[in-house]
Amino acid sequence: MGTLRLGVLASHNGSNLAALHQASLLPDSDFTISVTISNNSSSGALAYARDHGVPTRHLSGHTHPDTKALDNAMRATLVEHGVDLVVTAGFMRKLGPIVRETFSSRIINIHPALLPAFGGVGFFGNRVHQAVLDSGDKISGPTVHLVDDEYDTGEIIAQSEVPVLPDDTVDTLAARVLAAEHILLPTVVRQLASGHQLHRNKN
Ligand code: GAR
Repeated sequence: MGTLRLGVLASHNGSNLAALHQASLLPDSDFTISVTISNNSSSGALAYARDHGVPTRHLSGHTHPDTKALDNAMRATLVEHGVDLVVTAGFMRKLGPIVRETFSSRIINIHPALLPAFGGVGFFGNRVHQAVLDSGDKISGPTVHLVDDEYDTGEIIAQSEVPVLPDDTVDTLAARVLAAEHILLPTVVRQLASGHQLHRNKN
């Protein structure tokens, strides 16, 4: 089995992209990032990818005002780069039906809370951590799950737990969860790369 080729989609900082990229450079890695796509032309994710020689593409409502054209362009970019597995890592847009259908069961997302709690429409970034703090829960942590047609409802692949501390703010909790994401996401991708769960790109 060859190297698993990732297409990573990110909207902002791209710290999960960086964690994945660093893991992909380890000597025993059997995955590589073939392309990074962002809807945000000034995202840290695109800057990181450019700085590290990863092919990039900016695809958004600005480059493609028609949603179907955007969906098609996204699919074409992923196929063109031979992507086996799509990873949405801080990608703040819903994927279109054409990409979802083409990469069915081959799209994973990282979410900054323990799904099924604190997921769904409107639960992203700091809003998630605020909701966790408001709930009084003592444990949080990231979830990696398959992407289906809804928000945050696909099959859960892996989770890791971090404590919620009494004096936590959104920022301190977010930082603790993000550090856990940087371990969990590469771990899951490594497992997928070495396993047989995925049907390789036949496009
Ligand atoms: C991460 O915490 C990720 O879990 C979250 O956005 C952040 C992106 O950080 N995603 C969501 O909230 C999606 N519902 P990054 O750009 O530094 O990787």
